[in-house]
Amino acid sequence: MDLYEYQARDVFEKHGVPVLPGIVATTPAEARAAAEELGGTVVVKAQVKTGGRGKAGGVKVVHSPEEAEAAAEAILGMDIKGHTVHRVMIAAGARIAQEFYFSVLLDRAERRYLAMCSYEGGMEIEELAVERPEALARVAVDPIEGIDKAKALEIVAEARFPEHLHHKVADVIVRLWHVYRNEDATLVEVNPLVLTDDHEVIALDGKVTLDENADFRHEDHAALVDKSAENPLEAKAKHMNLNYVKLDGSVGIIGNGAGLVMSTLDVVAYAGERFGGVKPANFLDIGGGASAEVMANGLDVILHDEQVRSVFVNVFGGITSCVAVADGIVGALETLGDEATKPLVVRLDGNAVEEGRAILAHANHPLVTIVETMDDAAAKAAELAA
Ligand SMILES: Nc1ncnc2c1ncn2[C@@H]1O[C@H](COP(=O)(O)OP(=O)(O)OP(=O)(O)O)[C@@H](O)[C@H]1O
Ligand SMILES: [Mg+2]
Repeated sequence: MDLYEYQARDVFEKHGVPVLPGIVATTPAEARAAAEELGGTVVVKAQVKTGGRGKAGGVKVVHSPEEAEAAAEAILGMDIKGHTVHRVMIAAGARIAQEFYFSVLLDRAERRYLAMCSYEGGMEIEELAVERPEALARVAVDPIEGIDKAKALEIVAEARFPEHLHHKVADVIVRLWHVYRNEDATLVEVNPLVLTDDHEVIALDGKVTLDENADFRHEDHAALVDKSAENPLEAKAKHMNLNYVKLDGSVGIIGNGAGLVMSTLDVVAYAGERFGGVKPANFLDIGGGASAEVMANGLDVILHDEQVRSVFVNVFGGITSCVAVADGIVGALETLGDEATKPLVVRLDGNAVEEGRAILAHANHPLVTIVETMDDAAAKAAELAA
């Protein structure tokens, strides 16, 4: 789960990372009040979970509550790379002497963590990494040892900070490491980390990604979920305990077993090439031993996806008998009644396949087509979606 900047700011503060005061506002009037409370120069910052906010006009330095109100007026509702701005953070203005970069992230390929740090901030880090790779230090971090003061000093030296800044910056890096480890993050990025005119090192921007696999040991992380930004179909599926991921295409997919569903996505995308690039609309694994009710829930979610134009049900009966699957399909279509308006292509095989197919044949629903093989079914579903 990615955090908003204001949430990252709070988490930083909790772990002693120096940050500036910030107040979240959802209206221009609130922004004005926040600027009054902070006083002096403030920065109005769009809160969206994407980068490049400054470039898009989503970060504005202002010098009065009136200007803050006007800036919030302009920024709220703005679209930044497909993300609508619903909140701004009014942050106290820093007097910046220099901008640096620091991040620590999970390096899956190397099975360890990677710290990246640069003395030259103020530039897009991706550009810096390409144009002047030598200016971006990349230091491997042992997962057991983590980043202690000595390691942090190694990182700042590698990043070519002048010596008088080593200890100051290293102390902040050690605290950022505490954020990373103690919150079970997979990314902590600070761009820019700044040195102020008063020689303080402050995290002016923060990106944090939390590992949802560790949610069980962080009760407080549930409060960080932005319910309003959640995809409503994914939220509904989560509520029904379904393994569902929304995708961009138009063929709804239901299968049993993650491996089968993954290959179903591939087969549909492949077949879809012949129909002008038809793609899967979702991943949905109803699991082994799925009941008729689970099938009905799955269909319920998928048929309510406006992007879906056809559905491919691909089940290999192992523990799940094809009878349960067929009953689920028939039951779901009955429950949905007139709401079910999209064609279903069903491929059943395995445990009790004949009985399952017989149930579907007997129901003789006008929307359901039974196809024997996975490839043919994928082609049929893609054709119907096109
Ligand atoms: N509190 C602040 N005080 C003074 N200047 C700030 C403050 N916050 C941001 N800035 C300035 O604005 C620039 C952009 O801010 P920030 O890094 O938060 O946004 P961004 O980099 O455009 O967004 P993203 O990190 O999403 O790409 C900073 O590099 C800094 O110069
Ligand atoms: Mg930034």
